[in-house]
Amino acid sequence: MKKSYYITTPIYYVTDAPHIGHLYTTVAADILSHYHRLIGEDVWFLTGTDEHGQKCEKRAKETGETPQALADRVVERYKVAWHRYGIRYSDFIRTTEERHKKVVTTYIQQLMKTGDVYLAEYEGLYCVPCETYWTETQAVEGKCADCGRPVERLKEESYFFKMSAYEKPLLEHLERHPNFIFPESRRNEVLGFIRQGLKDISISRTTIQWGIPMPKDPKATKDHKVYVWFDALTNYLAALGPLESDAKYGKYWPNAIHLVGKDILRFHAVYWPTFLMALGLPLPKQIVAHGWLTDSNRKISKSLGNAIDPLALADEVGVDGMRYFLFREFVFGLDGEYTKEIMYQRINSDLANDYGNCISRVCSMILKYCGDQSVNIQELIKPASEPKQTVGEVIPVFHNEMQNYGFQRALEAVWKIISSVNRYIDSSAPWTLAKSGTPEDQLKLKQVLFQCHEALRVASIFLLPFIPTSARKALTTLGAFESVTGEAPLLQNVGWGQGPAEVQIKKPEPLFPRLELKK
Ligand code: MSP
Repeated sequence: MKKSYYITTPIYYVTDAPHIGHLYTTVAADILSHYHRLIGEDVWFLTGTDEHGQKCEKRAKETGETPQALADRVVERYKVAWHRYGIRYSDFIRTTEERHKKVVTTYIQQLMKTGDVYLAEYEGLYCVPCETYWTETQAVEGKCADCGRPVERLKEESYFFKMSAYEKPLLEHLERHPNFIFPESRRNEVLGFIRQGLKDISISRTTIQWGIPMPKDPKATKDHKVYVWFDALTNYLAALGPLESDAKYGKYWPNAIHLVGKDILRFHAVYWPTFLMALGLPLPKQIVAHGWLTDSNRKISKSLGNAIDPLALADEVGVDGMRYFLFREFVFGLDGEYTKEIMYQRINSDLANDYGNCISRVCSMILKYCGDQSVNIQELIKPASEPKQTVGEVIPVFHNEMQNYGFQRALEAVWKIISSVNRYIDSSAPWTLAKSGTPEDQLKLKQVLFQCHEALRVASIFLLPFIPTSARKALTTLGAFESVTGEAPLLQNVGWGQGPAEVQIKKPEPLFPRLELKK
């Protein structure tokens, strides 16, 4: 049976159109899901939108729409952007959908029954943009401990979730599963937070209209809506149809990986697991936190006014250029400073010069020097060579990095192959071999060219998750695409000598046009 793999992105607020930060998380999930499909796993990839709560209610007031109309309009912007970037999600969930609301209501009812959710009075400091309560000691000089904006004093009747009861079980879980939170630095942060003690948290709001109603309760004197984070986090389960015992739930939930930005790690690594424990449900397998894209060292975000539109970037540098840049330039897990100069430089030097030129160089030479001959590639690539050795070294490194979110190092490894090909061409000078009429040199010529061809075939298959369209084009030019069926397990094709014996090389077209940065 195929191993299953469930990958999720956060669900995005519909307050505004997507920006480069949202793109970053979503492309990361797409790369991972593509990779896992290529190694033959059964992948379910979920993304979606977070449509309830104060943020959306407030934004709808500003735009003069109903919150539902705002959500309906903005969700399309997300779908258009993801389509443009070739994001192959399996499902897109919106928290205003019935399937989602039903699961949230059922779970809250269950928690009220078990006493994990109870009614009491709350007094605290509240941050509106973050929809988070802080105690006097948590708030930093009257400001939100997360975003630094001023907090308001609020007193209200509220439902609470007994998070305190799950402090010990959560710590035990983290100890028993050292990889539950990735990377380790973030795990330590979360451990530090839990060790300060978990308090019960408010799980309802009376200050908003736009949310899922709390179940009817004669004890309540006010109209309560479910806290937006309980609502939002539940999407990961709701999409799998957990109440109907949908086959998807059994198959994917045990293998759930949540990809999140570091700003929302606490909700995923503390709140979510304790909700699940209270519900008696298994926890996800792993929570992976990445860093932020920054602009002059500040997080890029709509509210800070420095958001960058993914569609404009796609027009400017191409979808694959952008996908490559984001995961080659920045270390996943750390913050990364975004600048146009670095982006142009990276795309031009790695994609246009190194990879694009190399494909074109090798294919042109094969067409020119042995275009009309039939050859047996597998025979020609048997002897030892630098590209052959490099491919052998890179394969385990690449897989290991991909399994550990080391996208940057995985790509660096692939570039070792490309550099080895370029060096091998220069040192063995096929153009000189071609001039010689001796049978030895003619054989050597074919060996050199097809060793390069084989190395580029392997490199291009490794690049499929990152730059799907260009890598496919490259494989088509190399005549090696037939072995790549897109969904089929490809691992067996990704080794030296695992390709076809004969290929039909196509006339190379430029894969990546050189970009000019306009001042
Ligand atoms: N709706 C919540 C998530 C609920 S998940 C159950 C939310 N939405 S969001 O639209 O504000 O952002 C979602 C994701 O985008 C987060 O993972 C966040 O880290 C990411 N990014 C937003 N700006 C970012 C950068 N500048 N850089 C990288 N990622 C950033 O939070």
